[in-house]
Amino acid sequence: MKKLEDYVRSIPDFPEPGIIFRDVTSILQDADGLHLAIEGLMESLKDVDYDVVVGPESRGFIFGVPVAYEAGKGFVPVRKKGKLPCETISAEYDLEYGSAVIEMHKDSIQPGQKVVIIDDLIATGGTIEAIIGLIEQLGGQVVKICFVMELAGLKGREKLSGYDVESLITYE
Ligand code: PRP
Ligand code: ADE
Repeated sequence: MKKLEDYVRSIPDFPEPGIIFRDVTSILQDADGLHLAIEGLMESLKDVDYDVVVGPESRGFIFGVPVAYEAGKGFVPVRKKGKLPCETISAEYDLEYGSAVIEMHKDSIQPGQKVVIIDDLIATGGTIEAIIGLIEQLGGQVVKICFVMELAGLKGREKLSGYDVESLITYE
């Protein structure tokens, strides 16, 4: 029986020299890999009381939507700058390679809603830190943050102290 980590392909020097890219396409293209990932995330959330799932473009959509659907919750997309049509709030942040600006619709989270954030991977934690800031600006309460993979060496978790964080696979 293969484990979830057996489905992850690691590519050295992509997209830049020195980066080991942890590829999720090799999980997604296999029915058993996809099942293990979604069921693993569902298991992480089985005792959590929440109203809505938030996921960042683009790999956070892939894992966030099936979890929200299976849990009977809504899904709120966090998008890269310029993609959302209504009034937004935005944040700029740094990643393992590069920087970006993300946006959420102002009416996407209601004050007091309990929010779960799902993404494929935490590297520096910059993306999730920025998303937490936006959710809290809108009055939401982040009750859990779930990743398929964590690159522990980049210490992203240190940016998330005080939050309930769980990863299905950890790379040192
Ligand atoms: C990747 C990944 C995470 C983020 C992690 O997304 O899917 O969202 O980087 O990095 P961090 O912990 O250093 O912030 P990316 O912005 O590359 O977008 P993509 O999913 O569209 O490839
Ligand atoms: N996003 C940021 N760093 C990454 C990495 N090393 N592999 C895959 N996605 C990433």
